[in-house]
Amino acid sequence: MPLLLDGNRVRDDIKSELKPRVAALTGKGRPPGLAVVLVGNNPASAIYVRNKIKTCHDLGIYSESITPPDAINTEELLAVVERLNAREEIDGILVQLPLPPQVDAKRILLSIDPEKDVDGFHPFNVGALVAGLPAPRACTPAGIIELLKRHGIAIAGKRAVVVGRSDIVGKPAAMLLLHEHATVTICHSKTPDLPAVCREADILVAAIGRAAMLTADYIKPGAAVVDVGTNHIADRELAARIFRNSPERLAAFDKKGSALVGDVDPFDVIERAGAYSPVPGGVGPLTIAMLMVNTVAAAERHVAARPVC
Ligand code: GUN
Repeated sequence: MPLLLDGNRVRDDIKSELKPRVAALTGKGRPPGLAVVLVGNNPASAIYVRNKIKTCHDLGIYSESITPPDAINTEELLAVVERLNAREEIDGILVQLPLPPQVDAKRILLSIDPEKDVDGFHPFNVGALVAGLPAPRACTPAGIIELLKRHGIAIAGKRAVVVGRSDIVGKPAAMLLLHEHATVTICHSKTPDLPAVCREADILVAAIGRAAMLTADYIKPGAAVVDVGTNHIADRELAARIFRNSPERLAAFDKKGSALVGDVDPFDVIERAGAYSPVPGGVGPLTIAMLMVNTVAAAERHVAARPVC
């Protein structure tokens, strides 16, 4: 059996480490503050935001959610962000993506004060990542690095292959792995012979968004496989293939009519990998944990920068 990269355990460790930092900030004047902007009624986004707010509550971080209607336009949403930028007690701002099509998401992300950009999506912070300067890092990629390091997986000198080139996961994950001295390849839909490239990976990061696409012939025996996929499947035939060795998971699918699966075939990975992060329970819990880390760090910087009266 490969080593299980246990995201729930790492999340709990990170939360425990944050508690004294939150207590110290609270003792000095006020708790860290996070504002989450959730536009419209996307059910998946609503669940993510609820979990973010709940985790703030667990840690004693002040949080509020702002829920403008789906019909909001770019100018109106810019005004929401500007008000949050100006508020002293708000250290972090997160605008949940995706935004409705009439909203210019790039302008919105650009309008967030880079100091309050706890997602690490502002071009200033993306530039700081590339330059290796301290700044908030995108949460899911930062979580991948924490997951590997805290399970003793060496990164320096290893071949890392990232499948997927999104701004949220693929690109920043590749840059963080490079900063950890891996030799990094980024693959995408136009990469020729994807299985052969993936088979070179000592560390394989799957962030493509296609259920169980990476099968045995993509995995080098002994590789560390990090599955970032969060695919909700409702097709019984697909579920029967993916859960072919797990009557319990297939029964759970039949009961619910859907299931959450990653981008990596869950049984092939167990047969071949040296370490792997499951879905659910791998990278997922770390996205929120790293958001909390970024929020507490933003509050610490904010307090340090406040003029002494
Ligand atoms: N939508 C999916 N993942 C994320 C994330 O990490 N941050 C934001 N703001 N939106 C998302």
